[in-house]
Amino acid sequence: MPESNSVIHKDLTNYLKHYGFFFPNAEIYGGLAKAWDLGPYGAELKRKLKNLCPHNVGCDSQIITHPQILAASGHLKNFHDWLVECRQCRKRYRLDNLISSEQFSVFLSQKDKNNYQVKKNCPRCGKNDFHPPRQFNLLLTTNLEITEDKENVAYLRPETCQGIFTNFALIQRSTHRQLPFGVGQIGKSFRNEITLHHGIFRTREFEQMELEFFFALPKEELPHYAKKTQDLYFNYHFGWGELCSNSHRGNYDLSQHSQHSQKDLRVNGTIPEVIEVSFGVERLMLAILQDTYHEEKVAGSQTERTVLRLPPLLAPFFVAIIPLSQQLRNTAYQLYLDLLPEVSFSLTYEEAPNIGKAYRRQDAIGTIYCLTVDFDTADPNSSHYNTLTCRHRDSMEQIRISRSEGIGDDKITKSLSEITIMNANWENEPTLPPQTISNN
Ligand code: GAP
Repeated sequence: MPESNSVIHKDLTNYLKHYGFFFPNAEIYGGLAKAWDLGPYGAELKRKLKNLCPHNVGCDSQIITHPQILAASGHLKNFHDWLVECRQCRKRYRLDNLISSEQFSVFLSQKDKNNYQVKKNCPRCGKNDFHPPRQFNLLLTTNLEITEDKENVAYLRPETCQGIFTNFALIQRSTHRQLPFGVGQIGKSFRNEITLHHGIFRTREFEQMELEFFFALPKEELPHYAKKTQDLYFNYHFGWGELCSNSHRGNYDLSQHSQHSQKDLRVNGTIPEVIEVSFGVERLMLAILQDTYHEEKVAGSQTERTVLRLPPLLAPFFVAIIPLSQQLRNTAYQLYLDLLPEVSFSLTYEEAPNIGKAYRRQDAIGTIYCLTVDFDTADPNSSHYNTLTCRHRDSMEQIRISRSEGIGDDKITKSLSEITIMNANWENEPTLPPQTISNN
């Protein structure tokens, strides 16, 4: 096993770009500030992460949002941050990020907010010369008509759950669900954030996984957690930050939509209460990537490697097929093509100037096993004919597994399916059967 020398608090931005997880958006045009695209491995990780999200009942509502939805939910009026701008250097800050929480509470309780003096110097230019705080609405708008007219303004949803609330009665009736039941939705949300720090942690466009659990609250029982929010935090490279928000929203949303739409959203005579779990998908990816990133010295050698110890269910690829040399490309690529329709795990093909580089590249993106096609694989006179080297990401141990005639009952597929089953448990560390032949 390699000596693990985990660097937990490293900023992985460059690493994630280099290895195809996140790319700065529109980089060839100079980049759209603080916007990110997913690269091939980021997209694969995200897809697998979203697949793990449990749904009771699903829903997939529009991103473009009717203004009345956001009037009813309170977003048009109340979804804002307090913005201050330095008159000297024009740097903008969220007031609650600039001053202490005690000072911010004092500010919030103050009636005349226009006269509030920020008692702190601008962290960028050192001057104390701020414009008075002003409200900054976080909703992003879009225009639905050709002529730009205020009346035609629609909004990009700031949270996915509003689509669940507005469809609540239709969902409940079409699925015949009785309380309690949950509705989940995964999709893009948009917020015009004032400050965007820390790479993918806070962006204007991001994806949310939200679960709303609807239940009837017995009238006499008000639980201690009533109307409470309890967020989950993660220790990112810049310090602690929110990962997931859990709230008891009461029946506020359904009551508001019922009032504004004049539609009856009651079930058995009462408007259900809601408990919500809300994750930002990219934030969750960042936390997982930071948690699984390791820098290690390879035991018994001077080499170092970086490895993503992603669990098998999340690794962008479970297996990579690699030719040992250029001369073996065709054999290896043919094996990859043959296995693709056969296997139930994710498979990729890798070529690099040498096998060490290929292994390092696959370690860096978290691939669990590398299958190497070598000269013995293709040599009918060799005792290792039709066998391949199977290398395990974490232990770097290698065994030979055989490939018998015919892909249908192919032993590679079988051996790997056995390993897949062994690894399918989230808790299990990936392992290989005994018979180690070497480490690389
Ligand atoms: N429906 C509840 C809701 O939206 P929130 O605390 O505003 O609650 C929930 O957001 C989660 O969405 C956060 O915990 C975070 O993971 C993610 N999130 C919120 N704003 C984000 C942003 N600007 N960029 C990336 N993720 C964000």
